[in-house]
Amino acid sequence: MKLKKTTIGVSILTATVLAAGAQAEPKTNMMHQWAQGSEAAAIAKLGEMFEAAGGTWEQTAISGHTSNTLAKLRSDVVAGNAPAAVQLKGPEIAEWNATGATANLDDVAAAEGWDDVVAPELTSVMKPTGSWVAAPMNIHRVNWLYSSPKILNELGLEVPATWDEFNAACDAIIEAGYTCIAHGAADWSDATTFDSVVYGMDADLYRRAFQEADVDAMRSQGMIDAFAQLRKMVGYMDDGINGRSWEQSMTMTMTGEAAFFLMGDWTVASANLAGFKEGEDYLCNQTPVNWGGNGFILNADSVVFFNQNDPDYVEGQKLLASTIMSPEFQVTFNVAKGSIPSRTDVDLSVGGFTQCQQQGLADLKASVDEGTLVRSMAHNMTVLQKYRGAMMEVITEFVADDSITPEEAANQLADAVELQG
Ligand code: BGC
Repeated sequence: MKLKKTTIGVSILTATVLAAGAQAEPKTNMMHQWAQGSEAAAIAKLGEMFEAAGGTWEQTAISGHTSNTLAKLRSDVVAGNAPAAVQLKGPEIAEWNATGATANLDDVAAAEGWDDVVAPELTSVMKPTGSWVAAPMNIHRVNWLYSSPKILNELGLEVPATWDEFNAACDAIIEAGYTCIAHGAADWSDATTFDSVVYGMDADLYRRAFQEADVDAMRSQGMIDAFAQLRKMVGYMDDGINGRSWEQSMTMTMTGEAAFFLMGDWTVASANLAGFKEGEDYLCNQTPVNWGGNGFILNADSVVFFNQNDPDYVEGQKLLASTIMSPEFQVTFNVAKGSIPSRTDVDLSVGGFTQCQQQGLADLKASVDEGTLVRSMAHNMTVLQKYRGAMMEVITEFVADDSITPEEAANQLADAVELQG
């Protein structure tokens, strides 16, 4: 019933928006990073819903990870060709908002009551100065450990809950002739793994180093220990990590070639698309934590709108924001994306959400209650891209070059951030 009520609210708003726009015909061209596979399939749902609501949909998909989209955004804005809509995350939202180039969404947000329904963990990011600047599409959890039930059962192993247990399991798995960690070397995948390592070893260190960019924390013994754990984990990977995509790594775990895959829950979407079954082909648990309890490393995709002169694109922005925040979109998109809705009033027990997604929501709530929630450095949710890029370079070099010691890496991390000013 709740869903239905809000739906009517959205259609009324859409009608009002369109009427106010007189002759304008809502259009958009959304720039984003979801160029292929399950990600392209998920964003296609937004296009379909936008068109069903009367809009004309175009998209500009930038291959590669978020930094490529951010670079393209910057060059388009500099060239005087700011996108009507762009997937933008974390502190970059505040940064672009401060230039005055982004549209204010307060009218749509007030008419649709976003303040009452958007997950409170997201609002400070979407409202950097108190006004709505971004429409949140989802909440992704970064710290997932996907395991192969085939390998664990065969070797009589439990899913590891701490990093010591993880290392012991890997030793047994390697001994049995399997790859322990499925991994594809890319700066953001290496950083995704390191997010979980630092957080799981010391959540306070994670906050200081990755959320506050505190260089003393980066040089600390805790960070050296975290790099030492990462070094061990590189040894648990096979030789083929270069050039392997995250989907290919996922498949290694789902087909029982490798025991573990550390990755965010976009994995669930890709697994569904490939026909892998939760429980049979993979298990999902949080990545190990040495401190007990529930942890959640949060990532969220959101859309920001740059000011436009063409009234069709201005109308399109309102319609797109409204479509993104509709309960229908939140279900359809997030089922297809592996994430959980950014609205708190969506029932995940219906609509096709997997058990892993439902577990994600339960863990998010538990983590908030326990005060352990953090945002993801690897996924652009903490520091600006210039700092993230500098940190990722150090992490990825460390993965690629085993002559770099954990002490050196910890210092390089701090030096790299200091260099950015
Ligand atoms: C994005 C997700 C995407 C993932 C893998 C994350 O940073 O937020 O939407 O699925 O990267 O490409």
